[in-house]
Amino acid sequence: MPALKAPSPYSSLIDLDDLSPAGITEILDRAKAFHAEPPPRDLLRDVSVVNLFFEASTRTYTSFALAEQRVGADVVALPPGSSSLGKGETIADTALTLAAMGVRVIVTRHPHSGFPARLAESFAGHVINAGDGRHAHPTQALLDLLTLETEFGKLAGLRVALVGDILHSRVARSNAIGLRAMGAEVTLVGPRTLLPDSMGGDGPRVARDLDAVLPHVDAVMLLRIQHERIASAVLPSLDDYARNYRLDARRLALLPKHAIVMHPGPYNRGVELTEDVLRYPGWRYAQQVSHGVYVRMAVLDFLVNG
Ligand code: NCD
Repeated sequence: MPALKAPSPYSSLIDLDDLSPAGITEILDRAKAFHAEPPPRDLLRDVSVVNLFFEASTRTYTSFALAEQRVGADVVALPPGSSSLGKGETIADTALTLAAMGVRVIVTRHPHSGFPARLAESFAGHVINAGDGRHAHPTQALLDLLTLETEFGKLAGLRVALVGDILHSRVARSNAIGLRAMGAEVTLVGPRTLLPDSMGGDGPRVARDLDAVLPHVDAVMLLRIQHERIASAVLPSLDDYARNYRLDARRLALLPKHAIVMHPGPYNRGVELTEDVLRYPGWRYAQQVSHGVYVRMAVLDFLVNG
């Protein structure tokens, strides 16, 4: 018999608003502890995890796979195109099938916003959203929070600018939610056509003039233009975009000395950044990627073991 749906309020991680600030802190603390000292390899012994990715991924996929190995889970990967969802099976039936085999965790990425939430409704186990459409990417936001906290020793009061294609970015949405929940001050910067009208509630600050924002931030998070999700009419010219929003040597010089620059990857040289950024002492891309593995180990442990 498959287990009944887990009663824990944290049975799935679809976006960061599934977590309280205390829950976010707990995951970050666990990730830091795992970073300092590798946890026992049997943390998730006998727990079966399926990686169900319907969209290309280098970083996130590898990072989850390594995290699952390091906590000792039994891992099955279903590469895109190989699941029976393509044969007309419903999401609910896929969930039932995997649960009946004893799968406890599904890590999923999908081009459609809402897929992981639908799966979680039917699955008697834990669903972890590894990125859905333009909706959410909670583990990316957690690794970004960990990178900021490691750098500054706190999140509350930090001033963070998210720059670029905010409208189509699940990374921007999840970061805005997580950063604000932890007391950071978020400014969204980009051209009018790539900014949302609202992010809900008393939403984050929105600005169009990047040069005016840069002197007043502790961190800049650059975002890729999500061409695969953009109608061409939204972005008239890449040259215009680069002129106004590309981070280059001149703009780096506007930042306070202590400021760091982040990017979820994959980054596009010449579009949202120049090579100067890759040589900037505060460029934290590699730290972000490295933190990703620990954060994902912590999320797996948190959901499965409580
Ligand atoms: C991002 C994604 O896929 O949402 N990449 C990632 O997970 N590190 C960002 C992007 O594709 O631009």
